[in-house]
Order: sequence, then C-alpha cells, then structure tokens
Amino acid sequence: MLAGKRILLIIGGGVAAFKSLDLIRRLRERGAEVTPVLTRAAEEFVTPLSVAALAARKVHRDLFDLTDEAEMGHIELSRAADLLVVAPATANLMGKMAAGLADDLASTLLMATDKRVLLAPAMNVRMWQHPATQRNLATLRGDGVRFAGPVDGAMACGEFGPGRLAEVPEILEAIAAALGEGPLAGRHVVVTSGPTHEPIDPVRYIANRSSGIQGTALARALAGLGARVTFVTGPATVPPPEGVQVIQVETARQMLEAVQGALPADAAVCAAAVGDWRAEAEAAQKIKKAGAVPQLALVENPDILASVARMEDGRPRLVIGFAAETENVTENARAKLARKGCDWIVANDVSASTGVMGGTENAVTLLTREGEETWPRVAKEEVGRRLAARIAVALA
Ligand code: CTP
Repeated sequence: MLAGKRILLIIGGGVAAFKSLDLIRRLRERGAEVTPVLTRAAEEFVTPLSVAALAARKVHRDLFDLTDEAEMGHIELSRAADLLVVAPATANLMGKMAAGLADDLASTLLMATDKRVLLAPAMNVRMWQHPATQRNLATLRGDGVRFAGPVDGAMACGEFGPGRLAEVPEILEAIAAALGEGPLAGRHVVVTSGPTHEPIDPVRYIANRSSGIQGTALARALAGLGARVTFVTGPATVPPPEGVQVIQVETARQMLEAVQGALPADAAVCAAAVGDWRAEAEAAQKIKKAGAVPQLALVENPDILASVARMEDGRPRLVIGFAAETENVTENARAKLARKGCDWIVANDVSASTGVMGGTENAVTLLTREGEETWPRVAKEEVGRRLAARIAVALA
C-alpha cells in the first residue's frame, strides 16, 4: 500500500529509537523507500550500520558533510521525499521545530521541507506533560504537523503514563493517512460524535453521558484508512483525532447544520448521542431561584440521522446510525434501522451496569438489511477499526 513512496525517516535520540528499526522493516515490506537520518543523540541508541543495513541505504548524519552536500544537498534531501517522519520525536526536536531552530541536519531538513511532516513523539511522562512540550505540540499542530501517539504505558524509565512511542502498526497507519493512501483514499466520510448540550438559560443545559470516545475512535480509524473525514462533534471529553476536519458544535440544531454543510459525502456515520429534546425557549438571563419552580417545556430536536438517510438528492451511499439501548437491544435497534431509513445500525447496550457510556470498551451488534453479527466486547478503538474496515469494503 506504500509502494514507491519515499519516506525520509528522522530518528531522534531516545530509548524508543530501537523501534525505528522495526518501522524501517515494515515500511520496506510495504514497498516504501526509506532514507534514514540519525541525530547525534540517536547514534547513542542505534548504530548507523544497523539502520543502513535495514534501510539498504546510506544513513545521513551530519549537516556539514561535504560529500553529501556535493551529491545531494539538505534542501534536496528534504524535498525528494513524499513524507518526513520523525520517530521517535524527542521533546528537544519538538522544541526546535516549534521555535524554528535549524542547528543540525534533522532540524534543518524539517525546516527546509515542503512536504508533510509526521511526528511520533516518545519521552518521559513529565517531559510530555510539561507546559513547554504541550505549548510546542499546539504550535506544531497549528503549523500542520501531524502526530501519531504518544500512547499511555509503562516506560523504560519506570514511570507510567502518556509518552510512549506509538506502536509500529499505528505509526504505519498514520503514515498511510498522511500520504492519502489506504482503501478509503478519495472518499469523504462525515462522522457525528459526542453529546449535545441543549441550553436552558445562559448557565444551564440538558446533556447526556456520552464521552465521544467511540465516535472519535471511528473517525481516527477512517482517517487511518485514508478517508477525508469531517468530524462534527459536540462537547466531548476526549480530544478529536489527528488528520480530520473538526467542526465543534453544541446543540442538535448546530450539528444538523454542520452535517448538511459538510455533504456531499460517500458515507455518514451518526455516532453522536444527540439530545432528543431542547427547551422550548432558552431564557435570555439566568433563571433565578426566587419565585416559582420553573416548568421546563420541551420540544423535539431534528433527527440528524433520519434526515440524512431520507435525503432525496445527494444521499450518502452508506448511512450508519448507532442505537443506544438499555433493554431489548437488538429488537429496538432493528426497529430503529427501519424507522430512520439508514443502511446499518451499530447497536450497543448502554445500561449503567455495562459501563459502556463514558467507558473505554464496547460490545456491539452490527445490523444491516441483510442480517446481523455480534462482536465481542473490545476496546472502543478496536470497534472503530473494525467498523472502518467494514465501511471500506462497502465503499470499495
Ligand atoms: N440521532 C440523530 N439525531 C437525533 C437523535 C438521534 O442523528 N436527534 C442518531 C444518533 O446519532 C444515533 C441514532 O440516531 O445514530 C439513534 O440514536 P438513539 O439515541 O439510540 O435513538 P433515538 O432516535 O434518540 O431513539 P430513542 O431515544 O427512542 O431510543
């Protein structure tokens, strides 16, 4: 899937640098050409010889190597690639990039390039959480730099938390997405996610327990397969994924408007827990406690899923809804499939005892017009990946 793609791989200095060797192997297995660059610090962790052997290419190491400059200058090196990948990206490298410093070969290549840049950071938890690193992360994101990880886990330094290098398959997925490769390349998918907040007055609102984790996982997986994803999200508790277009909304009506504005699309997946009702009138001022207990009159919100599924013109080829149920899950979901006019329903039991709402795992049944299949309880990330893979097959 990466056949003929030229990856300039910058290996930063960190314990995780050894994983870059496996990354090189996997990239080459997929047909990519890998040109490796080692920072001075990286040479303390992996040898130039092993990197060169795995890449079957010369390793670039020094900015002032005259032979290199005569054969291929650093400007050309950074532009001959289709994508620049930094793995592991250290706090120091991120800091240099954010500040615009170019004092060695790696940082100079990163400044001289006109190609996309993907960072896979790896560092100690405290370094990752340090305000300076988080500031640099925000700056780099704003500059269009993409990120794979870091992930939570045990570290070589004995601490636990975010800062671990993403696993190689995840970095490969991010590379494919950054290159616009994958089975969903060229496809546009709209995903709704998270809860909605329906205002009662300037300080109060009606909400629900949705975290947005499942919708976020699905959007991430779709982007990982190369789709262009428009991610319309209510106020979720998790940040949106990398590499998608994010539209933040609060209310069901804003969500509907954002979805309509994002169409046309090849597929629409409504994973949001949309508030079914809103206050008939939003009070302009905070409702005061003195006086009678307010009687809240509710009116129904628009049904986003049904309105997309029933579009006469320009309906996405595949319209998928979720069914959040607390009893008779499959029967209720099957009825919902018919009522909403969508193609598939992903049914899940959101009873408090399942811990699904707000939790990290999900057990779903996928209902289509042809039949149904129940998937085992797995991480919501995995549900997202499986669903994205099914969508890719359906849109092929
Ligand atoms: N949905 C939507 N707009 C709404 C309500 C729901 O797009 N106003 C979508 C959800 O994103 C989900 C599907 O419809 O994909 C089903 O949502 P769910 O809350 O399970 O069902 P409801 O339609 O609200 O029905 P009920 O509350 O009776 O179960």
